[in-house]
Amino acid sequence: MTEFPKTHALMERGTDFLGSEHAVLCGAMSWVSERTLVSAISNAGGFGVIACGAMTPDLLDTEIAATKALTSKPFGVNLITMHPQLFDLIDICAKHGVTHVVLAGGIPPKGSVEAIKAFGAKVIVFAPTLALAKKLLRSGGDALVIEGMEAGGHIGPVSTSVLAQEFLPELSEDHLVFVAGGIGRGQAIASYLEMGAVGVQLGTRFACAQESIAHPDFKKAFFRANARDAITSVQVDPRLPVIPVRALKNKGTEEFTAKQIEVAKRLDSGEIEMGEAQLQIEHFWAGALRRAVIDGDVESGSIMAGQSVGMLKEEEPVADIMHKLMLQCEEALSKR
Ligand SMILES: Cc1cc2nc3c(=O)[nH]c(=O)nc-3n(C[C@H](O)[C@H](O)[C@H](O)COP(=O)(O)O)c2cc1C
Repeated sequence: MTEFPKTHALMERGTDFLGSEHAVLCGAMSWVSERTLVSAISNAGGFGVIACGAMTPDLLDTEIAATKALTSKPFGVNLITMHPQLFDLIDICAKHGVTHVVLAGGIPPKGSVEAIKAFGAKVIVFAPTLALAKKLLRSGGDALVIEGMEAGGHIGPVSTSVLAQEFLPELSEDHLVFVAGGIGRGQAIASYLEMGAVGVQLGTRFACAQESIAHPDFKKAFFRANARDAITSVQVDPRLPVIPVRALKNKGTEEFTAKQIEVAKRLDSGEIEMGEAQLQIEHFWAGALRRAVIDGDVESGSIMAGQSVGMLKEEEPVADIMHKLMLQCEEALSKR
């Protein structure tokens, strides 16, 4: 008998799909979602996801093997669609028999969904619009994550509450939809489940768990921050397709603005082309996130965090966070 009968009843399609006890994904977080946190999430009944980020195929190979050594529970791998070696990374997932691959960061390139399905894995996709969601679900996506702008990391322009109202009534009957962005407590999980979501994805809430390898200074910055400190990066030049990033404001956020101005100028002078300009912007954040998470450089590094950061006050074990979320959700549903 489950401790959370009402929650589990609403999550059933999600847990069947993921193979986990709770349909609670810990979204991939570059540098943070590695073997330790991913296995802790899965061992606590959730669904951990390795953030491949800019890893080489060899590094991903090692990370998957190491994660498997720490948990026998299901977990997924998140691949960024614009990774230059995307298909090699898919081969590594195939080699390990990864059961779920999350494709993030843009429309999956031709053949990628097919290549993943070819070795029997499920494909989880993101979609910023309803039309694209329908297209991706028609062309092989097995489940969808809708992620609102409250989230940490790269974000779209629309809030979770609006996306949920737009997507869930249209899709939830025939498709598996997980809701992400701004979820800090189980009460919010309850309401998205009631709207038709089969589960949720959280990042910020787990980023500074006890098992997270993030630097103590990164964690301190999280515990000190209020919701309003997790701000969106500014797009300086409309020609530069900067995807807004939500992170705690610091010197780094100002430096990113300066970097954009510099890149725009080099674009004007013909010194670099658009592709190169885009890469430089992407690389800035990749390096900056690592500096914050691993080195603890919370001055100029990028402390990616969602607005739910204001609800985090202390380091807790993953199992406690998971239990709290489930309990809050169950209590909320029981009061209805
Ligand atoms: C520090 C950090 C790094 C992230 N890195 C990635 C990433 O590499 N790939 C990805 O798809 N999402 C990334 N995300 C988004 C999370 O997977 C998740 O969807 C998001 O955190 C959910 O919203 P929340 O932060 O409000 O809980 C990141 C989020 C954070 C906070």
